Amino acid sequence: MAHVPSRRRAVRSVSQSSPISEEGVSLWSATSKEPSIPALDKNINADVCIVGTGIAGMTTAYLLAREGKSVVILDKGQIGSGETAHTTAHLSNVLDAGYRKIEVLHGAKNAQLIAQSHTAAIAQIESIVAEEQIDCDFERLDGYLLFPDRDSPKKFKEEWQAAKRAGLRVRKLKQSPFDLKFGSCLRFPQQAQFHPLKYLAGLARAIKRLDGRLFGGTEAKEIKGGKTVKIGTKGRAIVSAGAVVVATNTPINDSGKMHTKQEPYRTYVIGAFVPAGRIPRALYWDTEDPFHYVRLQRIRANGKTQDLLIIGGEDHKTGQAEGLEGRFARLATWGREHFPGIKEIAFRWSGQVMESMDYVAFIGRNPKDDPNVYIVTGDSGAGITHGTIAGILLRDLIVGRDNPWVTLYDPARKTLLAANTFARENPKVADEYAHWLTPGEVSSVEEIKPGMGTVIRRGSSKFAVSRDDKGSLRVRSAVCSHLGCTVSWNSTEHTWDCPCHGSRFTPDGKLLNGPALGSLDKATLPEPNEPRRRKQQGGSKSGIDKTQLERRCFNSNRESVRSG
Ligand SMILES: Cc1cc2nc3c(=O)[nH]c(=O)nc-3n(C[C@H](O)[C@H](O)[C@H](O)COP(=O)(O)OP(=O)(O)OC[C@H]3O[C@@H](n4cnc5c(N)ncnc54)[C@H](O)[C@@H]3O)c2cc1C
Ligand code: FES
Repeated sequence: MAHVPSRRRAVRSVSQSSPISEEGVSLWSATSKEPSIPALDKNINADVCIVGTGIAGMTTAYLLAREGKSVVILDKGQIGSGETAHTTAHLSNVLDAGYRKIEVLHGAKNAQLIAQSHTAAIAQIESIVAEEQIDCDFERLDGYLLFPDRDSPKKFKEEWQAAKRAGLRVRKLKQSPFDLKFGSCLRFPQQAQFHPLKYLAGLARAIKRLDGRLFGGTEAKEIKGGKTVKIGTKGRAIVSAGAVVVATNTPINDSGKMHTKQEPYRTYVIGAFVPAGRIPRALYWDTEDPFHYVRLQRIRANGKTQDLLIIGGEDHKTGQAEGLEGRFARLATWGREHFPGIKEIAFRWSGQVMESMDYVAFIGRNPKDDPNVYIVTGDSGAGITHGTIAGILLRDLIVGRDNPWVTLYDPARKTLLAANTFARENPKVADEYAHWLTPGEVSSVEEIKPGMGTVIRRGSSKFAVSRDDKGSLRVRSAVCSHLGCTVSWNSTEHTWDCPCHGSRFTPDGKLLNGPALGSLDKATLPEPNEPRRRKQQGGSKSGIDKTQLERRCFNSNRESVRSG
């Protein structure tokens, strides 16, 4: 059971207005304490260097250490400071896309392999929890895929049949369980859930016991493959190793190839108190678009044992959404309509998922790179199980053991149907949202209210201009330091988000999320008619919009698929 220490209580009603930066703490961060790890301050050697201490990096490090490999793990933050702290940690072998779509894109045999690999990932977590005696609230439970009444019986039947063909245990129910306000549903037994940060803390203990070395506050800046790989860090220390695994959620060592095959989405979560035992413990998710995902976590808060109902959803492409402020409120309204007993909303947080073009992660050798460079990315909203699959698969690749999933998860794979659908749909969406990328939401800086931000154009340059709560203006270049897209203001989280590959920055331009490695350039906003002075604007780039970049990327992706 998770305990909310009174000192750090995140409990707060949504009706209270307080900055999201305080509220953005996830339940997991509020109810666990990650072990602190030191920074790397000298050159070192290892068999394998792993960059990133999320679920993917830590599982890979642990499984390699168990094989007797010497491992070094680097993180620019501390253990689990990425998306693993923001997850909802449903451990499921049913992918968000559903097996109807999976089967169309990957074929019946691969659909079975996908189901088997996620089943194996849950079993792997369960056995690590038992062997390492990790107290992380792991439990097996049923999963319910809920169909709203308006869904056609045909869709319901086809989803059921596809799940069965994939080899999953599944039952059709005419009515959703426990009088929940849905129509029919599918029940999948033997799913699971856990507390992700307590699990990572347990893995860290085990890795240290196996002589693995963990370093925090150590940002990898350069990765060079070869017989001996070299990982250069911001602090100048270099790690030399036989292999490197880049587990930074979205690869920091990619020049564009992988980024053409996946897209970043923001997703939102609330945690609401319900009376203990009122809602049966299970995983719930529906077929809406965007869909909702729900689970419970028992916690001890304010001297009482209570259940926290965790509701996620309201996904949108990063940098492309309207009405962000309403998203948490809409999740609460949806929750009250469908689940009984919701009281105070205690948590609100958000995170990012990387949606791959065919709903399956990319795990394996970095395409077209020098030898011994491995990546894991494209979590597709199932990154806890995909991250665990990565641990198993990358261990096998590195120690030279056969693994039946190699081709399925190969980052260089070419799924023609998926590439065409991805290329067809995404420029359309980008066109639809093109106005988000065009500055001009305000005509003068005076119109920017405290706590707000907007992109302002002066000549051919674009500026990311925001005001802090006290009214001071902050100006940065609006050109993303990754590949040059124009960033866009996120009014919920008060960040600059890049719609192209998901890099995110603080209002001051500091890097929050990669794949970018640098900040937004400092800049001075010229007067409206003042000629542009290159030096003041942080470089000569003017920033391209997502539509332009996507077209370039998708075209090159289509070409590479065709030539494959
Ligand atoms: C709201 C939400 C709900 C979700 N729900 C589920 C779910 O129910 N089930 C599920 O399976 N998945 C879910 N996911 C997805 C899943 O949580 C993530 O895909 C997964 O946690 C990502 O793990 P990771 O190890 O790939 O990356 P991360 O956890 O992001 O770890 C990457 C690490 O790399 C570090 N890093 C980055 N750049 C550098 C650098 N240059 N040098 C050094 N270190 C660096 C970061 O600091 C970070 O610690 C959800 C995600 C979100 C946001
Ligand atoms: S994240 Fe790639 S251009 Fe911004």
